[in-house]
Amino acid sequence: MYSITLIPGDGIGPEVTHSAKRVIEATGLKISWDIVNAGADVYKDRGVLVPDEVFESLEKNRIALKGPITTPVGCGFRSINVLLRKKYDLFSNIRPVKKIPGIETPFKDVDLVIFRENTEDLYSGIERSTSEDSAEAVKVITRKASLRIAKKAFEYAEKNNRKKVTAVHKANIMKLTDGLFLDCAREISKTYPDIEYEEVIIDNMCMQLVMNPSRFQVIVTTNLYGDILSDLCAGLVGGLGIVPGANIGEDMAIFEAVHGSAPDIAGKNIANPTALILSGAMMLNYIGETEKADAIADAVSKTISEGKYITMDLGGSSSTSDMTDAIIEKILES
Ligand code: NAI
Ligand code: MG
Repeated sequence: MYSITLIPGDGIGPEVTHSAKRVIEATGLKISWDIVNAGADVYKDRGVLVPDEVFESLEKNRIALKGPITTPVGCGFRSINVLLRKKYDLFSNIRPVKKIPGIETPFKDVDLVIFRENTEDLYSGIERSTSEDSAEAVKVITRKASLRIAKKAFEYAEKNNRKKVTAVHKANIMKLTDGLFLDCAREISKTYPDIEYEEVIIDNMCMQLVMNPSRFQVIVTTNLYGDILSDLCAGLVGGLGIVPGANIGEDMAIFEAVHGSAPDIAGKNIANPTALILSGAMMLNYIGETEKADAIADAVSKTISEGKYITMDLGGSSSTSDMTDAIIEKILES
């Protein structure tokens, strides 16, 4: 019996986490879910954004499945997502972007993994107004964080038989910060002589990705570029509805989709549950339940390629719950 924290989040979060929970349970895995929540809805009810039980549950279980949490634009509270990643030093944000047969895209074979540094860069939270008409933000890059994310990217490439790692940067302009990041990526690359290493500047990278994404296998980059490239890459394979993710540290991991709370479609039972379901499959791989993880990924693939029960974003007309039911049926058949 595993004990896992479940954070439903807000917006489409409760709908898609409910789907993922049902799909994981359909594999027969025995899980005791510790359900706790944070965000604006919790604040409305209880006057606190992240109640203590969220921290307590994470610290006890060291593993969580999480729905998206809205962060207001402009004034308002700071991101709870960033807070959790920093507080627990979940330094690797890993986002596999893979073509799923059945989803029409211009590309035959996209299969890449983004390693996004998850604790620093312009997400430092150090920002201030310098006058009524000017403001500045601090971009923090450290050797420690850059070395460890580069190492994770190369370790992954080696373990998964990927032949190339691409470091993405803007060191031509940000010579000290991105320059340091690049130095670290280079240093790690030297310890993996069998893996090709290349460096691409972020603006060129965007063009390369939309022209010929299959030339990339593993991408390693700083926090902000990684955030932006993740959504761009999601667009190469059919959108945010299908791309999962993981925030992994030394002794804790939180699994969540790349997408946000999608307020435009929240509460309508039309969100695509795939991204969170596949985040759940990543979680099962993390705890060593690889067969069950594969069963989930297969069931998702079959459901999408058959095309009968797919959500609106993929060109179908099924509800979140109907697509979830179809995936569960495939798991039970297998
Ligand atoms: P978003 O990712 O929520 O939505 C962007 C577009 O993709 C929308 O049109 C949405 O309907 C669509 N979309 C997203 N997920 C989908 C799904 N599962 N199925 C079908 N369509 C889907 O990005 P947006 O609107 O910029 O952000 C909304 C809120 O989410 C913001 O407050 C943001 O801060 C927060 N956010 C939270 C994240 C997290 O909790 N880790 C990550 C990203 C954003
Ligand atoms: Mg993002």
